[in-house]
Amino acid sequence: MSVDQNKHKMKEKIAQILGEINSFKAENKEALENFRVTYISKKGVIPALFADFKQVEPEMRKEIGMQLNELKNRAQEVFDEQMQQFETQNETTTDLDLSLPVDAMKGARHPLSIVREEINNIFERLGFVISEGPEVEDDFHCFTALNFPPDHPARDMQDTFFISKDPDVLLRTHTSSVQVRAMEQGEPPIRIIAPGRVFRNEAISARAHCIFHQIEGLYIDKDVSFADLKQTLFHFVKEYFGEDTKVRFRPSYFPFTETSAEMDISCNICGGKGCNICKHTGWLEILGCGICDPNILKACNIDPEVYTGFAFGMGVERIAMLKYQVNDLRLYFENDVRFLQQFEKA
Ligand code: DAH
Repeated sequence: MSVDQNKHKMKEKIAQILGEINSFKAENKEALENFRVTYISKKGVIPALFADFKQVEPEMRKEIGMQLNELKNRAQEVFDEQMQQFETQNETTTDLDLSLPVDAMKGARHPLSIVREEINNIFERLGFVISEGPEVEDDFHCFTALNFPPDHPARDMQDTFFISKDPDVLLRTHTSSVQVRAMEQGEPPIRIIAPGRVFRNEAISARAHCIFHQIEGLYIDKDVSFADLKQTLFHFVKEYFGEDTKVRFRPSYFPFTETSAEMDISCNICGGKGCNICKHTGWLEILGCGICDPNILKACNIDPEVYTGFAFGMGVERIAMLKYQVNDLRLYFENDVRFLQQFEKA
């Protein structure tokens, strides 16, 4: 090969590599390391050119030597610049993976949320639809439509937080108000479950709180009977507390149901033998229920000659107490992490 040809070949090679180096952009540190190995490292392309340089004729050495040095420096520059970028990026990003699914996050769910969801799920599988109503209510939805006459002693059963008298605004004392709203808004068949917060003017103690949670159920259709109510609640109890749980109904009184009952389950702590939790009776009261009084259907423009229905209401704290054996209501509201961390992970 002539001197000129040789010189030309070497220059071409240098130009080609320079082009590659200048257009190189590493996507990650690994790619940058590959770049270093390919071009800069002892076994790389540039040191190989330096080895070839030894055979270059003396008269061409100056020019090609300069170009080779430039190439070597440029390669090092590209490497250093991009490495620095990766390093500053690492400093500014955190270890937080924002795309991580919620399930994998640390933390625990509130026991009342867990219980509410479990109860909702059982009734949803039976075809009940979740319904919500306002916490700030009026007298009509909380009392009047539910058959509490103005001077009826039943009104004394509720110790209400009144916000104003005229217009009458109050904090709902029970989720039964959602029954009224559901009947106003929809035509039978109506099958709803209404979880929510309720408020009563109670002194706070281990056994009472001014805020607590209830779940209300309502089913209105043709020919709904007490047998349907019992069957629905039997199913709920077996699903939630286990197949062996026994159930009993005791007659009771609520203004909005006729017949009214309270339902007890066999104590799941002592198995019915008698303990402190069931006050040695073997039974635990868990909810109120009954057949909807025809007056409440009328108040919501549903014909009681055509339709009947049942309703029930239970306290979420009460059920959570039985499930987790937590006997001080205040613990549910203090949000002490040492308490909360004991429950099922999210
Ligand atoms: N609202 C009642 C309470 O707060 C609970 C209740 C009892 C709801 C009987 C009902 C029912 O729907 O039928 O104590």
